[in-house]
Amino acid sequence: MSQQDLLALEDAHVAHNYHPLPVMLTSGAGATMTDIEGRVYIDCLAGYSALNFGHSHPDLLAAAHHQLDTLTLTSRAFHHDLLGPFAAELAELSGKDMVLPMNSGAEAVESGIKVARKWGYEVKGVAADQANIVVASDSFHGRTTTIVGFSTDEAARKNFGPFTPGFRIVPYGDADAVAAAIDDNTVAVLMEPIQGEAGVVVPPADFWPRLRSLCTEHNVLLVADEIQSGLGRTGRTFAVEHFGVVPDIYLLGKALGGGLLPLSAVVANRDILGVLQPGQHGSTFGGNPLACAVGRAVIRLLSSGEPQRRAEELGAHLHSRLGALVGHGLLEVRGYGLWAGIDVDPAIGTGRQVIERMAARGVLAKDTHGSTIRLAPPLVISLEDLDRAIDAVRDSLADLSGS
Ligand SMILES: Cc1ncc(COP(=O)(O)O)c(C=O)c1O
Repeated sequence: MSQQDLLALEDAHVAHNYHPLPVMLTSGAGATMTDIEGRVYIDCLAGYSALNFGHSHPDLLAAAHHQLDTLTLTSRAFHHDLLGPFAAELAELSGKDMVLPMNSGAEAVESGIKVARKWGYEVKGVAADQANIVVASDSFHGRTTTIVGFSTDEAARKNFGPFTPGFRIVPYGDADAVAAAIDDNTVAVLMEPIQGEAGVVVPPADFWPRLRSLCTEHNVLLVADEIQSGLGRTGRTFAVEHFGVVPDIYLLGKALGGGLLPLSAVVANRDILGVLQPGQHGSTFGGNPLACAVGRAVIRLLSSGEPQRRAEELGAHLHSRLGALVGHGLLEVRGYGLWAGIDVDPAIGTGRQVIERMAARGVLAKDTHGSTIRLAPPLVISLEDLDRAIDAVRDSLADLSGS
């Protein structure tokens, strides 16, 4: 079928909840993807960081292929031989005791919210149905009705109500506002260490340390949504490491499934995750053997420290070259490691116009909030491809500014 026919099929039969670039991809390897006409692109989105280890990573494929031929699903009604090892290894990587395996990122966030509330009632002693959770403006934690209920993005919320009560929204990065929002019924502060969807927004350096102190002081769980920021992307296993902070709960997803399948998790110590008893929470596919096999291969990659090292080294190069474009079509560059949010000067054009020109140069990226572009290539990208991607940003900005 031709690209035109395939685009027409999508248009007719797929709900229009995305606005993709008109590129029809058919294969991927490492940091590149190839379209239906054989054109090769550098992937600068990496599946919103689900593809931190690149497309078709041989170790991940080998683990998946082996497990596909062995056992893929048991449901949690029975035990299987990979769940314990996967959980133990993920707990060790995270410095915690226990893991609650789920599938999508939004499910991990929902599960974290449920665990924090239950902990609040049963351990902290909050009165029934009075628990509140402090969250941030401009956050992105997923698309379920509970989660979009505390989003400040109108497009994410409009006409999806009524919403779940029990959330207090404060400005991201404002520790005084968090302090003011916490009361005796607060069970958790739930935030992204660096806000991804908002445009790779890095909070003030003292924000996370202050969140840690506030949570410890008021017996509140500090929940870090590392679904996009974690697992090597910023040059560390967890982005909170940049701030010298250890949260009570990690929410993980995306890259945990190696870009092969959905695998997410809530990771915490026994005094927190121990509140869940049989029948109180679950998921048919959560912790299935295929996902655990891939997850273990992902953890092995991360345990070597190599993805983190590459992200840090190549990230320094990325940020230094992008920094030179500020004043030449860019207003600001933010981020850590191989993760950058760049603000296009609205005087020359929109983010969408820039990414369309980048695509014409063989580089795929995604705009967000009008004028921001997120660059997040797979951590396996070569220095040469990274330079080609940055050249495409530079040249696309130059096109638009007419220079
Ligand atoms: C920080 C964060 N949390 C949660 C999610 C939701 O993950 P999923 O799309 O797998 O449900 C995302 C997705 O972009 C995210 O960036």
